[in-house]
Amino acid sequence: MEKVRVGLDERSYDIHIGVGTLSSLGELCRGVALKGQAAIITNPTVGELYLQVVQDSLERAGYRVKVISIPDGEEYKCSATLEDIYTGLLSAGLHRGAFIVALGGGVVGDIAGYAAATFLRGIPFVQVPTTLLAQVDSSVGGKTGINHPMGKNLIGAFYQPRLVLIDLLTLDTLPEREYLCGLAEALKYGIVLERELFDYIAASTAAIKSLDKGVLQHVVSACCRIKASVVERDEREGGLRAVLNYGHTIGHAVETLTEYRTYKHGEAVAIGMAQVAMLATLLGHASQEDLQRITALMVELGFQMQLPDFPLDAYLEAIAHDKKKGDAGVNFIFNRGIGEFVIESVTDVRTLLQQLQH
Ligand code: NAD
Ligand code: GLY
Repeated sequence: MEKVRVGLDERSYDIHIGVGTLSSLGELCRGVALKGQAAIITNPTVGELYLQVVQDSLERAGYRVKVISIPDGEEYKCSATLEDIYTGLLSAGLHRGAFIVALGGGVVGDIAGYAAATFLRGIPFVQVPTTLLAQVDSSVGGKTGINHPMGKNLIGAFYQPRLVLIDLLTLDTLPEREYLCGLAEALKYGIVLERELFDYIAASTAAIKSLDKGVLQHVVSACCRIKASVVERDEREGGLRAVLNYGHTIGHAVETLTEYRTYKHGEAVAIGMAQVAMLATLLGHASQEDLQRITALMVELGFQMQLPDFPLDAYLEAIAHDKKKGDAGVNFIFNRGIGEFVIESVTDVRTLLQQLQH
C-alpha cells in the first residue's frame, strides 16, 4: 500500500492507496486513534458490492457498526437526505466519540463528510472512495456539502477526513462512463499542474483502458499527491486551489444548458477542458503542438469534446450566472503549455467565447 500525506498541521492525514485494501480499514482507523462507534454511510449500489468487507474489517478491529444507506444519485445530495442521516445517527445513539465512514463515490463522500462536519458540531470521518473521480479528486481536500434547489454544492464546509482509503479493485465494477469521468479529472492535473503525469497517461492509454492496477496505482497516487500539494498551499480556495476548476467554467455552462440530463459532470468538464485548451492556444499560452497533444490524447481515451450547440448568448448567460457575485470578470484557468497554468480574469467574455468551436 502506498501513502500520500496531506500536510495541514493538526488536520493532516494520510491517503492509503493499493489493491485489495478495504479489509485493512479497521486497522487503519485504530492507527489514527478513532474510537467509539462507526457509522458507515453508503448507497445500495456500492453497499451491495463492498459493505460486507468494510463492515467486517471495522468489527474485527473492535468497532460497533451502524449502517446508513442513502438513495443513489446526485439528486439525493440534498437537505432531506442529510436530515435522514442525522436521524439515523441519533437513533443509533451516536455521540461525539463516534465517527463516520463514507463508502461510495463523490455524492456519498460529500454528504457524509458534511454530516460529519455538522453532527454534534463535528465528529471525525473517513473517506473510502469507490469511483475514480472520488479517488483522484473529491475524497481529498475536505470540500464537503450538499446541493440547494438554487444550485449545486452551495451549502457546505471545509472539513478534512482523518484518513482516506483507496482500493483500486473497486474500479473493476465501475460503469465505463463513470470511469471516464474520473479520467477527465486525472487528466486535468496533468494538463495544468504536472507535465510528467500528462506524459505518463499519454504513454499508458492501453493499460489505463484495461484498468491495469500498476498503472492506476501510479496515476491515482500522482493525482492525490498533486491535489494534496495544492490543498496544503490553499486549503480554503483563496486563490491557487481554483486551478482545480480547469475546464469547469465551460463545463458547468454545458451542464446547465443541457439541464444536467445529457452529460455527467466529468463528461461536461472534458468538453470544457478541450475548449479551454483551444482558447489557451489562441491566446498564446500554449503552442499548436501542445493543443494537438492534448486533443489527440483526449480522443484516444474516448472523450467527447464537441461543444453542444446553443447560442453564444445562452453560454454567456450560464457563465454569468455561475460567476461569484462581486467579481469584476470571470476567472478562466488556461493551461500554459502542458503542465502549467495561468489564471486570467476575463471581462470581455463574449469576445473570448466567440472563438469556441461547435
Ligand atoms: P457518484 O457518487 O454519483 O457515483 C457514480 C455512480 O457510480 C453512482 O451510481 C454510484 O452508486 C456508482 N458507484 C460508485 N462506486 C462504484 C463502484 N465501485 N462500482 C460500481 N458502481 C459504483 O458520482 P462521482 O462521480 O463519484 O461524484 C460526483 C459528485 O462528487 C458530485 O456531487 C460532485 O459535486 C462531487 N465532487 C466533489 C468534489 C469535492 O472536492 N468534494 C470534487 C469533485 C466532485
Ligand atoms: N475539486 C475541486 C477542489 O477540490 O477544490
